[in-house]
Amino acid sequence: MVKPVLTIQDERLYKVSAPVTKFDRELRDLVRDMFDSMAEEGGVGLAAVQIGVLKRVLVIDLVEKGFIKGAFINPRLIEASEEMQDGEEGCLSVPGLSAELKRPRWVKIGYQDMSGNEKVVEGEMLLARAFLHEMDHLDGKVFVDQLEPKLHKQLAGDIDRIKSGLPVEHAIEPKYRNRKKAS
Ligand code: NI
Repeated sequence: MVKPVLTIQDERLYKVSAPVTKFDRELRDLVRDMFDSMAEEGGVGLAAVQIGVLKRVLVIDLVEKGFIKGAFINPRLIEASEEMQDGEEGCLSVPGLSAELKRPRWVKIGYQDMSGNEKVVEGEMLLARAFLHEMDHLDGKVFVDQLEPKLHKQLAGDIDRIKSGLPVEHAIEPKYRNRKKAS
């Protein structure tokens, strides 16, 4: 079921999510809701807290970009490359704003699957960025608060507007907004 995605004016986004201990129907329903909500908004990644559930669950769908689709329970960073990547980052909880943020180029992530089995996944570039971005959400961190100080200062007005529930003035509306209007 599609659930509303919280924006950064919601204090839940700054809370640390709790580990999943039960691999039950409730978890499966949560993951389904997350995939539905992410698809509705045209996102490529979503953390459970973004639909108001403070559990350490994230979903990623980067199939269109040549990567993977999946649900990752209790993810933890095992290793990250020293080599960094530049890239533009956005977030469904920060509508209308994207910004440059350096991230490691490659990561190795430990996680549990939907049945609780321990797994390991590696990812680079966009996939590495998605894992790190979504795992930050599980620790109550939003990407706009991790920008380089100079960039953060430039965008402070926009960030404040979004935190107040106002639209960003100069931002280009993401593609998914146009698509939603059209349908
Ligand atoms: Ni996000």
